[in-house]
Amino acid sequence: MVSAVHAWSERLAQNGAQFTGSIIRDLLRLTERPEVISLAGGLPAPECFPAEELTMAAEGILAREPLAALQYGLTEGYRPLRALVIERMKARLAIDVAQEQVLITSGSQQGLDLLGRLFLTSGTLVAVEDPTYLGALQAWHPCAPRYVTVPVDEDGLNVDALERMLADGVRPQFLYIMSCFQNPTGITLSHERRRALVEVVSKYGLPIVEDDAYGELYYGEERPLPVASMDMEMHGELRHVVYLSSFSKVLAPGLRVGWMAAPEELISKLTQVKQGVDLHTNSLSQATVYEACRDGLLDRHVPFIRSFYRTRRDVMLTALEQHMPEDVRWVRPEGGMFVWITLPPHVDSTQLFHTAIKHDVAFVPGATFYANGGGQNTMRLNFSLPTPAQIEEGITRLGQAVRDVI
Ligand SMILES: Cc1ncc(COP(=O)(O)O)c(C=O)c1O
Repeated sequence: MVSAVHAWSERLAQNGAQFTGSIIRDLLRLTERPEVISLAGGLPAPECFPAEELTMAAEGILAREPLAALQYGLTEGYRPLRALVIERMKARLAIDVAQEQVLITSGSQQGLDLLGRLFLTSGTLVAVEDPTYLGALQAWHPCAPRYVTVPVDEDGLNVDALERMLADGVRPQFLYIMSCFQNPTGITLSHERRRALVEVVSKYGLPIVEDDAYGELYYGEERPLPVASMDMEMHGELRHVVYLSSFSKVLAPGLRVGWMAAPEELISKLTQVKQGVDLHTNSLSQATVYEACRDGLLDRHVPFIRSFYRTRRDVMLTALEQHMPEDVRWVRPEGGMFVWITLPPHVDSTQLFHTAIKHDVAFVPGATFYANGGGQNTMRLNFSLPTPAQIEEGITRLGQAVRDVI
């Protein structure tokens, strides 16, 4: 008799057959022992969730306007929330768009998925930073695109390398970037390069997908303005950039509420695609986010999150100074949740991972984040979730593991 599993597996579509477990998931299974300190995750700290305000908001909306929370809604998103997002983008980011240019998404992850469905098919080319966000590669995996990678240094994407690539006739569907506190490197695109980037993409007509998941988590005086706002400044409208952001890092990721801003024709297409995916983003979540934020919760709460994570970042940087051998390098992140480590060229961080697990500490080997391979001697450390004491102890153990391997 044919087993049920076999009956399904032999019918997998060509794209379905491409779904395989990620190495990262297999490795992270090894970190589940309670004695292991994990610097591998990427989760926000639960202490940063404004749970009380969200509870009150959800209760309030259910009591006063149950239909806004319980009925099917518009695919474009809950109108008051769209208006709030528009107001915030204008006031804080100098991105001035109309209601028709905004789509509420089920997390910014869904924005990546929708873009993939609309623009990518098997073999089409996408330009990504090297390294890039693993979740974007996963979102586009079913479309089976090919990647062209653009190197990143301490000032972010190497715009000269991008221009050389475009001058050589390479024509990706779009360029995907994280301009602030990139995942995995924590690096931020410098002001000069932002300007240069908009000039280059304007010259070649290359669309940009700007993922600003971490922009509000800045630990200096202020955040850099998104590339999208520079696009607006230079062209008087959002022309080359699709801007994605989210409430995941400033409220709570379990709400699954994000948004995208883009030229109106594109939002209209993306809305049609989203309709077939989930009809609309969870109504209760959208209404709760609006209700919680309409009286200025973000302005009160996000500074707390910044100072909470700034402390953890500083603890990690100090511990790295104390415990890492001299030839290990890292970039001081000005925001976000990660520190990116470069080991001496001969050290393979996947091997190091197994040594580190013996020392009861875990991280993510950096090679995972390279779309076309490379980065064997790199790794990503998370400082948002572990406590300061765990960070200190974790880096002490990691320093020992690195010494063992070197
Ligand atoms: C760079 C980046 N983009 C997008 C996401 C997805 O976030 P969400 O879908 O929760 O908005 C993440 C999550 O960690 C991320 O790191």
